[in-house]
Amino acid sequence: MTPAPLRLAIAGLGTVGVGVIRMINRNAALIEARTGRAVEIVAVSARSKDKDRGVSLSAFAWEDDPVAMAKRDDIDVFVELMGGTDGPAKAATEAAIAAGHDVVTANKAMLAVHGQALATAAEASGKLIRFEAAVAGGIPVVKALTEGLAGNEITRVLGVMNGTCNYILTRMETAGLPYDAVFKEASDLGYLEADPNLDVGGIDAGHKLALLSSIAFGTQVDFDGVVLEGIGSITIEDIRAAADMGYRIKLLGVAQMTGRGLEQRMTPCLVPRLSPLGQLEGGTNMVILEGGDSGTIVLRGAGAGEGPTASAVMSDILDIARGTRVATFGQPAAKLAKAKAAKADTPAAFYVRLHLTDKPGALAKVAASLGEAGVSIAQMRQQGETEGLAQVLIVTHKTTRDALDSALSAMEATKVMGGHAVALRIEEV
Ligand code: NAP
Ligand code: HSE
Repeated sequence: MTPAPLRLAIAGLGTVGVGVIRMINRNAALIEARTGRAVEIVAVSARSKDKDRGVSLSAFAWEDDPVAMAKRDDIDVFVELMGGTDGPAKAATEAAIAAGHDVVTANKAMLAVHGQALATAAEASGKLIRFEAAVAGGIPVVKALTEGLAGNEITRVLGVMNGTCNYILTRMETAGLPYDAVFKEASDLGYLEADPNLDVGGIDAGHKLALLSSIAFGTQVDFDGVVLEGIGSITIEDIRAAADMGYRIKLLGVAQMTGRGLEQRMTPCLVPRLSPLGQLEGGTNMVILEGGDSGTIVLRGAGAGEGPTASAVMSDILDIARGTRVATFGQPAAKLAKAKAAKADTPAAFYVRLHLTDKPGALAKVAASLGEAGVSIAQMRQQGETEGLAQVLIVTHKTTRDALDSALSAMEATKVMGGHAVALRIEEV
């Protein structure tokens, strides 16, 4: 007997939703051959019924209200591709779970905040939420963690998870342009989210890191525990100084479980230029998974865009069609431990750039502030002078961010500095 088709309702017909419809239309035979059953779209929803989306919707029922669509009894899977932390995305996801449907979503903002509650509710009634597309677009990193590396203790997860920030940082370097000019270029190219701070403030990438941490370390998603710092204060001078020292600046996510608790950071860092992360160009993403037995796994690919993101959504849909049922975060949500955020980071070397009044004794005050905070200098150089201020670059030996921050506060109090210092972690990758 031919198995019944897997019936979908798709809410959200933008870049990703239309990509999913195109893939299902184009690859119907391949999908059926690989899963043993057809996948068919029953109903769709978006804000505007009349918008030309470049694909025919005539074979599908139209629903103005995604929540009503999520409750339909002629569907098996609700595919949420609207976006947003709360609002219709959350309401429709909750409605789909209550109606007894599995959910596939690309929505990292919703899951980073409500993922624990949503997954617990879904799993309590034997249903799943799958979210491959929510992290690093087309890169199958959720599958790698929940399945390929499931037998490993994961020691560290790190990576570049926001293509827009990597585009801005690499373009600043290659074109020699300041941040503001490249930000405008990214905006004109349509790379930025509707709220650009989600990208350049590190929030979007922080959402993704929090989701990966949950799977990797068996803890409840803890977005509030992610230390976030955006790329807005990075200058072309920082990029050039890093390059001179053999490094590149990346908005880098790092999650690791330590004896002091879970460390999660999404901050601009220096990484060695010749490392895989240091060679990452443009809008590409890279996620590195370090496993106890697997060793280091490096995944690289498109983190956004219609094809790559739809491909990840399809991977979840095909799993459900095949009957592959892995818990949302790799183990039952109800059994995930609450994350305990580490109060201090693992020590690292830091790059510091500051401007000093070019007067006798100024550098001595900087050195004294560092010394009194227990921060040791590995390299220091003074470069040029503008408007009576000399630029000083310092690389520290390994120290904690707390110790460095206390040194920087002490320096500011000495009034020998112009403006604030930039301090970036040099990550060992
Ligand atoms: P998008 O192009 O802005 O499309 C959003 C869609 O949702 C639109 O079709 C919109 O309808 C619909 N929508 C919004 N509010 C709605 C409401 N209240 N009721 C019904 N429909 C509503 O977004 P997208 O880029 O496809 O992203 C969708 C999701 O995928 C988001 O969670 C995003 O973070 C995630 N994602 C996107 C990418 C990417 O490369 N784009 C990558 C990874 C993850 P109208 O078209 O009628 O306005
Ligand atoms: N704004 C994201 C990025 C794409 O630039 O990577 C969606 O995750």
